[in-house]
Amino acid sequence: MEVLLRNTFQSLAKNKTANQLAKKYGLRFGAGRFVAGDSIEGAIQSVKKLNEEKMVAMLNYLGEYVTSETAATEATENCLRTLDAIHQSGIRSNLSVKLTSLGMDIGTEVCMSNVTRILERAEQYGNFVRLEMEDYSHCQPTLDLYREMRKRFDNVGTVIQAYLYRSEKDIADLNQWKANVRLVKGAYKEPAEVAYPDKQDVDANYLKIIKMHLLNGNYAGIATHDDAVVEQILPFIREHGITNTQFEFQMLYGIRTDLQKRLANEGYTVRVYVPYGIDWFGYFMRRLAERPANVWFVLKNLFK
Ligand code: FDA
Repeated sequence: MEVLLRNTFQSLAKNKTANQLAKKYGLRFGAGRFVAGDSIEGAIQSVKKLNEEKMVAMLNYLGEYVTSETAATEATENCLRTLDAIHQSGIRSNLSVKLTSLGMDIGTEVCMSNVTRILERAEQYGNFVRLEMEDYSHCQPTLDLYREMRKRFDNVGTVIQAYLYRSEKDIADLNQWKANVRLVKGAYKEPAEVAYPDKQDVDANYLKIIKMHLLNGNYAGIATHDDAVVEQILPFIREHGITNTQFEFQMLYGIRTDLQKRLANEGYTVRVYVPYGIDWFGYFMRRLAERPANVWFVLKNLFK
């Protein structure tokens, strides 16, 4: 049953009609628990609150898989506005972007030019931008674009997904760039040809690549809600004399807020991923796929 629900949510996340309808009708079904509103003003207020609770943030203007240059330009403008708003409001937040929202499926040139504009603006403000990792078909293009950008910019990072067999090699290659990497388990539906089908293997590989990346001396965004990972990584960090300035914990808005607060109060950097905007459906479906138990929450909201 759980596998069936997971597959259904993962497929719905990419369903064009459902995504279009969701945009039209606004935040529904309890998505507000995971999405900080449909406007930048709401998102800034959410980050202010997190900052007051000793946490930092990364804002994400929701959107993915755009197919027209106009939509990619619009998404780019929204990213620029987000960077402006971060600067003007003085909140402590950086920016996280999905390359398919910035035109990756239209063409490399279009996407590179949009990302360059965003990185230049961020650089002007002394801010940082993370290029997220999407489904497997975009993995190599994302890493290629990251490397191109890294030649010019210091304020850019990317993401590696532990469920992919290739992740260990990618972490080794990224050492050459002294890359700032967010490490995640992986959120998309991938075939066994490219990704570990068993969760146990994903969990083991996740710990392995976090340790590798830290031992290489590189900055790690340890992005998980998994207590077991936190409990195993903290002693490892102490044992190897890794300082708190070489890593941060990252969690999603509305998920494991107890753990977020606990780690922040213990003095660790906790960065919360704060998504906002009208294109919330795909993101919301992936959160339900990770934890089908959350479906009761959707059902409850259906009848409100
Ligand atoms: P796991 O799924 O094993 O869950 C461990 C525990 O966490 C669960 O038992 C539960 O308590 C809690 N939990 C997890 N998900 C939950 C949910 N949705 N609702 C409620 N509780 C939940 N992926 C990707 O492919 N590309 C990316 O760029 C990113 N970016 C990213 C940024 C940040 C800040 C985070 C935290 C995650 C991502 N991800 C991602 C998603 C990631 O790949 C993964 O799908 C989720 O983090 C879930 O895996 P966990 O590591 O939390 O562990």
